[in-house]
Amino acid sequence: MTSIATVKPLVILIALLIGVGLLVFFYRKIKKHFRFRLKHLKELGIYFEKRITDQNTKAIREKVISSTLGIHQEQNNIVLTKYNPAMAIPDFERLKPNLEHILGIKIEHISSRKSKIPWRQAPIILYTESFKKSLSMTDCPKNFEPGQYWIGKTAIGEDLILDLRKGDFSLGIFSLAGGGKGNSIMAVASSFLNTWIQATGSHFYRVLILDAKGTDFHGLIKKYPGTKSLNPIFLDELREAVAVLESYKKEIDEYRKYLADNGITISHWLKIKNKYPNLKPIPQPMLLICDELSQYMTPRPSIRINKDSSEEQIQLKEQYDLEEKLANLINSILQLFRSSGVFVILSNQTLKVEELTLQRTNIINFLLGRNSAQMSRLLVGDEKTLTDTTLKAGRFIFLGNGQVIKVQVPFLLTDDN
Ligand SMILES: Nc1ncnc2c1ncn2[C@@H]1O[C@H](COP(=O)(O)OP(=O)(O)OP(=O)(O)O)[C@@H](O)[C@H]1O
Ligand SMILES: [Mg+2]
Repeated sequence: MTSIATVKPLVILIALLIGVGLLVFFYRKIKKHFRFRLKHLKELGIYFEKRITDQNTKAIREKVISSTLGIHQEQNNIVLTKYNPAMAIPDFERLKPNLEHILGIKIEHISSRKSKIPWRQAPIILYTESFKKSLSMTDCPKNFEPGQYWIGKTAIGEDLILDLRKGDFSLGIFSLAGGGKGNSIMAVASSFLNTWIQATGSHFYRVLILDAKGTDFHGLIKKYPGTKSLNPIFLDELREAVAVLESYKKEIDEYRKYLADNGITISHWLKIKNKYPNLKPIPQPMLLICDELSQYMTPRPSIRINKDSSEEQIQLKEQYDLEEKLANLINSILQLFRSSGVFVILSNQTLKVEELTLQRTNIINFLLGRNSAQMSRLLVGDEKTLTDTTLKAGRFIFLGNGQVIKVQVPFLLTDDN
């Protein structure tokens, strides 16, 4: 028989354990209550409520007998495991501003996933920004196929990979000064050319850079032999740029005619080698980079020359005429060369039609950095998206393929540039 003396400490111990257990239980509940501001979430109507018909009243009235919300944090994201079963993703999308306000987070994406337990509700995931402090080229996934290129990681941590063969042949990068345009151009171009090197041993493309600063792309020029960089601010280099693009256009037009003569229709010329190995090889495609567009693709006044015109005026007239030719060439490349293998990256601070001779509708995809409310409305359709202060160097809104998503671009100066 156990004596009272041995039972007593056991009872005390059990009582203590229960006490500690209760304390932990309530502490966690209270913490959760404040952390997720459950009272406010309840007001949104997202709690799971169990109801029974109230038997005491004759009228058909329901009584809430339990009301719960399963909510926890998983890395950067907030997961709802138990919630109003009448609600689906569109309802949470609608409540996004309220949820952001209550939870004090910025929701980048909302999705659901299958529950591990079959009879449970599918959890709803509220994704918040999951950017690293800095992304580098070494974070780029491997084994791309030629024609594919990496923009960076989206706010929900997915790789944003585009493909020339699927129509992603032009990319416009627009943001205020210092927004990271130059770095993004180099990152995208490197990813694109490296893929070719990895797959075929050579970067295959002819690279032409129109750089109105003339200083920003030494990294690319050094790394990819044959890269031509011209500064269209100088008349002789502008002449050369026009000549290079005219001869490129001629080659493409001739090959287009050759395909037509042979009755070939194909969605993309990069597929020709595999599909029609007996055809003449395609003209070497071009990676065309145009930075600081407003320096040379801008509307100019017309100049009339007569026998009294000064040398300066004659030169200015030539410059403006060449600029017009250059703009026509770039616009027609954007309009007609989609399937030829060309890849065009354009960059500037603003994209206002009255300031540029570039046809915006010809650009397929955009990386948009921080900008004015006016530019935000023009490009994204609201005044808020581009005035977001978190769009700092290297962070952009990607607009394309029906998506508007935040993306982080790798920072090249930190690695093998
Ligand atoms: N991905 C990035 N991550 C971190 N910092 C960056 C990133 N990209 C750019 N920066 C910083 O911002 C500065 C400006 O970058 P960059 O020259 O690419 O911008 P820009 O938009 O081309 O500027 P500008 O309009 O003056 O030509 C860089 O010197 C660098 O310090
Ligand atoms: Mg720049």
